[in-house]
Amino acid sequence: MTKAFYVTTPIYYPTGDPHVGHAYTTVVADFLARFHRLQGYKTYSLTGTDEHGEKVFEAARDAGVDTQAYVDNLSARFQDAWRVLNVENDDFIRTTQERHKAVVVDILQRVYDSGDIYFGDYGGLYCVDCERYLTEKELVDGKCPDHHTVPEERKEGNYFFRMDKHRDWLREYVKSHDDFIRPVGYRNELLSLLNEPLGDLSISRPRTRVPWGIGLPWDDDHVTYVWFDALLNYVSALDYPEGERYQTFWPVAQHLIGKDILKAHALFWPTMLKAAGIPLYQHLNVGGFLMGSDGRKMSKSLGNVVDPFELSDRYGADAVRYYLLKEIPYGQDSSVSEAALVERYNADLANDLGNLLSRVRALLTRHLDGVVAEPVRESPDDVVIDAGRELTQKTIDLVADLKFHQALEEIMQFVRLLNRYFSEEEPWVLARDGRQERLGTVLYNVVEGLRIVSILLEPAMPLKGQEIRASLGLSGGALTAGSWGETAAGTVVPAEAAILFPKVEDGAPATGRAQRGAPKQVQSESESESTSEITIEEFAKVDLRVAEVIAAEPVAKTDKLLKLTLRVGADERTVVSGIAGSYEPSDLVGRKVVLVANLKPAKLRGVESQGMILAVDDGAGHLALVEPHEDLPSGSKVS
Ligand code: MSP
Repeated sequence: MTKAFYVTTPIYYPTGDPHVGHAYTTVVADFLARFHRLQGYKTYSLTGTDEHGEKVFEAARDAGVDTQAYVDNLSARFQDAWRVLNVENDDFIRTTQERHKAVVVDILQRVYDSGDIYFGDYGGLYCVDCERYLTEKELVDGKCPDHHTVPEERKEGNYFFRMDKHRDWLREYVKSHDDFIRPVGYRNELLSLLNEPLGDLSISRPRTRVPWGIGLPWDDDHVTYVWFDALLNYVSALDYPEGERYQTFWPVAQHLIGKDILKAHALFWPTMLKAAGIPLYQHLNVGGFLMGSDGRKMSKSLGNVVDPFELSDRYGADAVRYYLLKEIPYGQDSSVSEAALVERYNADLANDLGNLLSRVRALLTRHLDGVVAEPVRESPDDVVIDAGRELTQKTIDLVADLKFHQALEEIMQFVRLLNRYFSEEEPWVLARDGRQERLGTVLYNVVEGLRIVSILLEPAMPLKGQEIRASLGLSGGALTAGSWGETAAGTVVPAEAAILFPKVEDGAPATGRAQRGAPKQVQSESESESTSEITIEEFAKVDLRVAEVIAAEPVAKTDKLLKLTLRVGADERTVVSGIAGSYEPSDLVGRKVVLVANLKPAKLRGVESQGMILAVDDGAGHLALVEPHEDLPSGSKVS
């Protein structure tokens, strides 16, 4: 039987544009859905907008817009936002949709008929931002601890749901199900809430005060309390009660929420489900809060707001997703910033991963015509092969335990191991020494390692994961724990591929999205090859010629430059070269050098230089001229 996986995000209040708090939870949900799909699960991921309630009604009124038009507009902005972040949700529910309203009415009626709803007067302290009554105990200095506002004192006739009577069984349930609420700190928080009476839950508002909501089926003068309405989205989206999706996915439901809405999901929701005769969800996964780089709550006035959509535009959605998943230990509060994103991107993606990919591609293309060879295993390969075989299961276990940041770190540790293997085996030396079989084996192992890495990274970086494989000539992306050697010998690596993770310099997005602009070279070792790739067509644009030095003299007022007169076929040219520290003018006359003949002329110290000659810097300040190995006529083309 196919395994199923159902993940939900909170449905967001459409009272403003989506922000990084919303984005984080939604990216985690998408990551989990993709990761499970990769393992062969049938998955369903749900997000949406929570469109009723006082908060939304007041926001529309303040904006002077019709409420429905207001939520239509903002809900569409949420839907667009998820596309920007490569989120592939299966469904997007809006609580103003008929499919949802019908389920709310049906369940309310059922709970009412069972006698669990009664009418009464209620007085209490209401926080509109939380959309719930707060207890005296929750207040800090008389204010809501989350919104820092003084709650409104209210007294009105409401319908009540008998929540209090559920306390004992719920406490027993939580105690006997360790993983019902995760991470464990939030489970403990709930258990302490369950030590006190819960009280009953007011589930209606008089229509005279809040006209925006779902009318109670037995009393249309009252609308449904927004949380009672909103929580039901998790089953209405599955076509509860008859839908096939409900049958398949509800038994495996996992909710993702932020810690501020724990009470609604851990107290209201299970008791509502029980009263409606619906089995409980499987897991409630609680995330921490994202703070600005200064560790304070993000706010425009503090200038510490991180906008994930702007960052996606600059660095690509995959980089933002990777950063959020790798940097934040799930469940904990974390600081986020653009600088930290750039640092993480450069270290992990540009240096460790991107550089290795470029290097292995360059050697394959240069020395093996781009063809991946049949490997012949030797003992230095064992460490890499064993680690590669274990990596998938380790990653699966960490993700199942909600340790996404550790799962990604495990993958990057493997990438670092591949880098060490590559450096130690020195495939460029193997190529120089003509040890083709060993060269082929080392490159094979790196390609195979990167194939596994690309698949495991794909849930975090859906585009880049695929692009890594494409740049190695690989297709397919099935995850098989324990396997090694699925890359077929004979695979042809395409000669051209974009730099997938161009380094970002000085915290500034110099190269923008991966494909845009000139990539920065990311080579870190002194191996004799360039890892910054250009195409053959790009190289062909450079016109290199053999040139003979016919005169040389110092340039006035500098001890660095020499003015050279060169013969290039029938032409003569003047070139200013910075080789005065390494050559006497008299040493140069009669030498054949290599000239970049189509370089745009430039004036140096008042002398127009019509090209550039090639020299090698020995790293200690000496320049050695590049000269043709044989005596060739000046003007000969170098290719
Ligand atoms: N509409 C309710 C949820 C109903 S679910 C049946 C709601 N909406 S919300 O738009 O205000 O917030 C949605 C989620 O965003 C909450 O889980 C909240 O924790 C999360 N976040 C809001 N700001 C956040 C951060 N700065 N960091 C992380 N998550 C935060 O509540």
